[in-house]
Formats: sequence, C-alpha cells, structure tokens
Amino acid sequence: MTKRVAILISGGGSNMEALLDSMEGDHPARPVLVLSNVPGAGGLAKAEAREVETAVVDHRKFHGDRTAFEQALHERLEQAEPDIVCLAGFMRILEDWFVARWDGKMLNIHPSLLPKYPGLDTHARALEAGDAEAGCTVHEVTAELDAGPILGQARVPVKPGDTPETLAARVLRQEHVLYPKVLRRFAEGEKTPIFLE
Ligand code: GAR
Repeated sequence: MTKRVAILISGGGSNMEALLDSMEGDHPARPVLVLSNVPGAGGLAKAEAREVETAVVDHRKFHGDRTAFEQALHERLEQAEPDIVCLAGFMRILEDWFVARWDGKMLNIHPSLLPKYPGLDTHARALEAGDAEAGCTVHEVTAELDAGPILGQARVPVKPGDTPETLAARVLRQEHVLYPKVLRRFAEGEKTPIFLE
C-alpha cells in the first residue's frame, strides 16, 4: 500500500523539494502534508506550487511552552495520517513523548557524518577540526539528538579554501541525492544503511 509521507520544515525546503519530486511514478510513497513551524518559510510556497497540502504551527505563539507547541504540531500531523514523517531542515528539538509517538517512522537529515558533529554549525566544526571529508546523514529520530540508527550517509571532500558556506553548498547537493534514496528504501521497509561517495 502506498505510504503517506509528511515533511516538517523550518526554512527554504530544498530537501523537501527533492523528496517531493522523488515521490512519483512507481515510488512507494506520496506526500500528504508539508508542515512548518515558521510562517512564510520558503518551502511552503514550493510545496503549494506542487499542490501538496501545507500547514503552519508557529512555535512563537506558544511563548516557550514546548509541550503545548508540540501538542499542536502533533494534532496537525495526526490529521494527515502519515505513515512516515521526514524532518527536512526542521530546526526545533522535539520532546521525548513526541519522538516516541513516531518511533520507527520519523527520519531526519543532518549535515554531518554522524556521529561526528551532532547539533549546529557542523561545517564550521568540520573545517576547524581539519577534516579531509564531510557529508550528511539520514537517520531515524530517537530521543537522543542526532543519534538514531543511521539509514544512509553521503561523503564529500573538503577542498582547500573551503568556508562553511562553500562546504555547506557541496554537502547540500549530496543531501538532495541521499534523502530521496533513503526515503524510497525506507518506504519499502528497507532499513539497512546505504553509503554514497
Ligand atoms: C540542510 O542542510 C539540513 O541538513 C539542515 O538544514 C538544512 C536545511 O536546508 N538540517 C539541520 O541542520 C538539522 N539539525 P533546506 O531547508 O534547504 O532543506
């Protein structure tokens, strides 16, 4: 049966676009909702242009009450009845109960070769450490930040003169390749990791 996919975003949504564009033809999944915590996030217009339903749950309206925000997010998500939830540049840390509700069904893309550099500023940290390569990881979301089972990784070289911005752009291009491949496999029930060069 076709899997229903909801995508959570906070920004431009280039990963979301790559995921939406992949879910056609014989793909085992279809998008049912793009949900943002940021009103006016660039990705919302891109989803609307593809005639995918969108919604906003603005975290700022909850004045720091994370549980209330996530309850509202959760209720909106439930309405869409997704089988799979993809975090794609969704920049809020989720509480344990929320993660537990989507256990085994929620994926995230992170711009580093986990377990290196969980959290923010991944590219600056890779450059600071003098790493010869960088990359991105798609993983299942678990209670510990950026630490769930790895479903796929893609590597890129660090080049002389790289800045966090040039490295981020190189990694992002690979994110757009990796995430759709992993989602397709995941929707087919395949959880063994893939590694792209
Ligand atoms: C991507 O690089 C993604 O890996 C990163 O945010 C960017 C979103 O770009 N995610 C995180 O840092 C999660 N902690 P996009 O909105 O164009 O997909």
